Amino acid sequence: MIEHLFPDEAQLIEALAGQIGRRLKQGVEARGQASLVAAGGSTPRRLYDALSQIDCAWDKVWVTPSDERWVATDDHHSNQNMLHHRLFKGAAAKARFAPLKTDDATPLEAEASIDARIAAMPRPFDVVCLGMGSDGHFASLFPFNAALERGLDAGAAANVVAVDVAGAEGGAARLSLTLSALLDARWICVLIRGDQKLGVSRGAAQADALRMPIQALIAQDRVPMDVHSA
Ligand code: 6PG
Repeated sequence: MIEHLFPDEAQLIEALAGQIGRRLKQGVEARGQASLVAAGGSTPRRLYDALSQIDCAWDKVWVTPSDERWVATDDHHSNQNMLHHRLFKGAAAKARFAPLKTDDATPLEAEASIDARIAAMPRPFDVVCLGMGSDGHFASLFPFNAALERGLDAGAAANVVAVDVAGAEGGAARLSLTLSALLDARWICVLIRGDQKLGVSRGAAQADALRMPIQALIAQDRVPMDVHSA
């Protein structure tokens, strides 16, 4: 894992949007299409504003969120809603979207259909962009959660896992990509804002993944991974 520290968010966003754009363009040039797993939450919003302006054959780029809160897609807590407002505009309006949210009442009922949807995306993913919570969660793989062992099983075939996280931002019911799906990637970038979260990521290497899920990403050596922080 390589750390890239920036003096401010603007410089981080410019650098990371440029790098993601380059990797997606390379994917389209090399294979005719590309794929991006897009972090949810609030930190990446400005990144997506910048990425949406990058010149790329977006109609050949597939995008899916790293996880989704099981709320209406017009709810302000919805990652799909955030992506539509912050990424799918300008040049990126033509991007191909693979949503995680369905009309199923629960994420568990959606697992099979969304697993197939994620399996059908261009794989390995060209870019996996993740955030991290101050408790060391990524996507919707939260510490001590009942679904965490299943979600962190790097050898599992499942692409997604239904998760219930009491008290989580945006609602307890979520659908998350699994670690095994996230590691089916050419490159992973973790976007971290603030010294507190940076400290958590630095301390995670020696932690237990069930207590500090980001450790599973930091400890893996299958996919090149960069942390971008400001
Ligand atoms: C989500 C995210 C989640 C997020 C972290 C950080 O849907 O909540 O995918 O993993 O990246 O919780 O969220 P912030 O960027 O809002 O701090």
